[in-house]
Amino acid sequence: VSAERLRQLLGLRGVGWPAPLEHFDSVGSTSDELKRRAAAGAPAWAVVTAEQQTRGRGRSGASWVSPRGNLHLSVLLRPSNAGPQLSLVPLLAGIAVASSLREYELRAEIKWPNDVLVEDRKIAGVLAEASTLGTEVAIVLGIGIDVNADAGVPAGGVSYASTCMSRLLGRPIDPLAVAAAVLARLRDVYSRLEGEGARGILSEWRALSVPWWGELVEVSSDERTIRGRAKDVDDDGALLLEDEAGRVMTVHSGQAFKLRRAPARNPA
Ligand code: BTN
Repeated sequence: VSAERLRQLLGLRGVGWPAPLEHFDSVGSTSDELKRRAAAGAPAWAVVTAEQQTRGRGRSGASWVSPRGNLHLSVLLRPSNAGPQLSLVPLLAGIAVASSLREYELRAEIKWPNDVLVEDRKIAGVLAEASTLGTEVAIVLGIGIDVNADAGVPAGGVSYASTCMSRLLGRPIDPLAVAAAVLARLRDVYSRLEGEGARGILSEWRALSVPWWGELVEVSSDERTIRGRAKDVDDDGALLLEDEAGRVMTVHSGQAFKLRRAPARNPA
């Protein structure tokens, strides 16, 4: 029933969805379900959504709190070799989510690479997982949006407080309507990436990004922690940080935080 409704909502947006849409009441992880379907030959744009997840996964091996009322969605992309630049595909999800939330008048901003914040609190996350079979690439984009339930501080110790749409808007929000917005926008940015290439997509990403440029930012991954002033993203979607010596470092993955400015000292 919900899958049909999602298809209808997409139709109302003028988007005929080209692949199966499956909705579960409860599932371990929508991305794990979709990976199984991908391995069995599911077509590009196959979608799995769920009311709740019992083993929701976040980035860096963290778990993702996935209660009822929130959106848990995974979508399968099969970029062709001649197709869009793979490293930019995860950024597309951030664009799709942030611009969907802006439809609801929320001031959503993307935190590199594709977390989405409102008022400095995390409201959505994206887990992009690629696999290859022969020469074929499959990307499962897992998108979690806190629609009606505040997930609290995410497990795994990521120190971003969270918030949810209904708390900010003061009314309950239909997760399927949010799903339709995200999927319709994802189709749109994906086809623009295919058609026009990286430039337009990157400027759209920049326009939706937290305005961190020039600020001191720390990015930590399993291997290392890097600090520097945020300069820009490059054509691959990597973050450029400048260290004190003026060297520019290219950061491909990790969790980014803005470092608080040292409090101004009173003149002696
Ligand atoms: C993050 O750590 O910010 C990414 C969170 C991604 C969560 C989504 S919910 C749907 C999909 N299924 C999962 O198990 N994870 C992703």
